[in-house]
Amino acid sequence: MSGSSPSTIHELPTPAVIVDIDALDRNLVTMAAARPGGTLRPHVKAHKCTSLAALQAVRGHRSFTCATVQEMLGMAAAGLADDLLLANEVVDHSRLLSLAAAQDQGASITIAVDSPETIDAAAHAGVQQVVIDIDIGLPRCGCPPEAAGELADLARARGLIVRGVMGYEGHLMAIDRVEQQVRVPPAFASLVTALDQVGSDVDVPVISTGGTGTFDLHPLFVTDAGGRQIPVEVQAGSYTLMDTDYASRGRPFEHACWVLGTVISRSRHLVVDVGLKSLGMDHGNPSIAGATVWFCSDEHVTFAPDPASASPLVDVAVGDRIRVLPAHIDPTIAMHDSIWLVRGDEVLDQWPIDLRGW
Ligand SMILES: Cc1ncc(COP(=O)(O)O)c(C=O)c1O
Repeated sequence: MSGSSPSTIHELPTPAVIVDIDALDRNLVTMAAARPGGTLRPHVKAHKCTSLAALQAVRGHRSFTCATVQEMLGMAAAGLADDLLLANEVVDHSRLLSLAAAQDQGASITIAVDSPETIDAAAHAGVQQVVIDIDIGLPRCGCPPEAAGELADLARARGLIVRGVMGYEGHLMAIDRVEQQVRVPPAFASLVTALDQVGSDVDVPVISTGGTGTFDLHPLFVTDAGGRQIPVEVQAGSYTLMDTDYASRGRPFEHACWVLGTVISRSRHLVVDVGLKSLGMDHGNPSIAGATVWFCSDEHVTFAPDPASASPLVDVAVGDRIRVLPAHIDPTIAMHDSIWLVRGDEVLDQWPIDLRGW
């Protein structure tokens, strides 16, 4: 970094999103070993950062999953558009037109459809490639598996290229591991059956599923009705940065990210300047090592040393820097403008969180 840019974390304005480059790299290596190349289609919604996506590409994953049109366009602008899948239904014509424009400039754009309306919207805007989104148990988007073949026929009749299927088992990400081992395989089997019904108009059909909670419960390949070996794409994203919710579930990834705060009061209680406006709270309170978090308000976390901890956080002074670990990484990242990349206390770089918005 140059000029007056911060060179240590002690100079950073807080709250600040910090990413430990070495922990991030270890997470990337662990996942790439488990699911190499095209058996992972990283979901960018967890980090919303093209600089981080570029590191995933270096580790061998060149196909990406996005949740919003803005993420798709940002990835295309960053030259990471070998194969972009929007794993979401879109009916907004102007947004679909912008996707079609990116496609006309050379980006590979594929979007999820689950109804005649979403197929019409894609065809009308000129988006060329779709996957049929299958409901495999999460009460969200996705058509019933038995409707998939008919929808694929409709998409082809509208001139669209049907690449295959996706189905996200979000309801199985955060359940007990033993129960996961029982419930994930049949959910995945219903996706394989749907692919048989849908077929594919491309050489390598798409079967896309899963996340950080289930990345190791899906096979790397399946054999389709025609005897072809097809890579199973897992759409994990949180594994890069992690959060306390996934860490509590024994996933083999490290905390690579936290929100750095400054202790601003110890008059009566210990208070750090990281509040619920800088933390995704839907999975509960954040954590502070060696401390008990009492509660969060807009701009504050009130905490106390935890005497039961192996190293209780004592002797805290006003002005000290504290790591606040988010319970849910995706919404936390979406609240910030940039990531500070660090090694120890040294600040190495500042990455824009450039895929925010819709
Ligand atoms: C469509 C889709 N695929 C995959 C994921 C998995 O993400 P994570 O890595 O957080 O488990 C999500 C998370 O919400 C999702 O919505």
